[in-house]
Amino acid sequence: AMNTNMFENFAVQENIERLVLRGYSIVQPVEGELACGGCGGGRLAPLDVIFAEAKSLLSPQTELKGIRLLVTAGPTREAIDPVRYLTNYSSGKMGYAVAQAAVEQGAGVTLVSGPVTLPAPAGVKIVQVTTAQEMYAAVLSLYPQMDVVVKAAAVADYRPARVQETKIKKDGEMILSLVRTPDILAELGKYKQNQVLVGFASETDNLRENALAKLFPKNLEMIVANDLTEDGAGFNTDTNVVKLYFKDGQEKQLARMSKLAVAREIISEIKRIMNIAKEIS
Ligand code: PMT
Repeated sequence: AMNTNMFENFAVQENIERLVLRGYSIVQPVEGELACGGCGGGRLAPLDVIFAEAKSLLSPQTELKGIRLLVTAGPTREAIDPVRYLTNYSSGKMGYAVAQAAVEQGAGVTLVSGPVTLPAPAGVKIVQVTTAQEMYAAVLSLYPQMDVVVKAAAVADYRPARVQETKIKKDGEMILSLVRTPDILAELGKYKQNQVLVGFASETDNLRENALAKLFPKNLEMIVANDLTEDGAGFNTDTNVVKLYFKDGQEKQLARMSKLAVAREIISEIKRIMNIAKEIS
């Protein structure tokens, strides 16, 4: 941790890159208030993040070694004009926690992330995207190399039909015409080979019915359904309350717990699904 100007200095960044190439693990500093009174990047990472990283380095789990896992996180942003966009309340916390839980188990993790302010978990390869179309292109191009895909992102279902090149001026009522974005998960389901596909669903009503209506048509092994009527569940919370629905008809309710604990449960179910597939083949 250090002052932003020092941290962003070319020499410091080059030295950090050199250390990574030599096999050192780096816990990146975060954005926030600094000792000098300013605000910016370079602030010491939260102690629980440093602790979790040190712990996993001292007792690495290797159960997912050799497994390539892709996770998507955060919202997408769909431009209306140069200063406005459509989006949702996703903070990225759930998807980043899944990436963290997978890397803890030794998986090779790629995180395709919409615009959020979270630091990437140590050891995770990050691909930054903004729009649903960019997320679609990134995920589809990486898909053939992946063993597991977890789609925790809250992808915009619609985008403005036309992005105005100049700032729209206010002038009475305005009607915005929207068109559908590609359904990334449905596409993954269509072209699935041996991948384990996990989706998320955020629902305000008919949790089971709505979750199952995504599980089967999208050809998923499991769907993680957030019940948005529960306190501490869903968007931009540190905890979550989810029910897991499986292709084989099983269901599993999880209690309210931190998003990292939920993520660890999800990874443990993915391991179970992969072991069953191995036994069958
Ligand atoms: O980021 P956080 O603040 O931690 O919040 C986490 C979360 C609530 C965003 C996350 O846990 C979650 O539920 N993500 C899915 C949100 C959602 O409403 O999904 P959906 O019902 O629109 O889509 C179902 C599935 O299809 C999702 O896996 C989604 O990633 C995927 N999808 C949806 C639309 C689209 N165009 N492409 C997709 O791939």
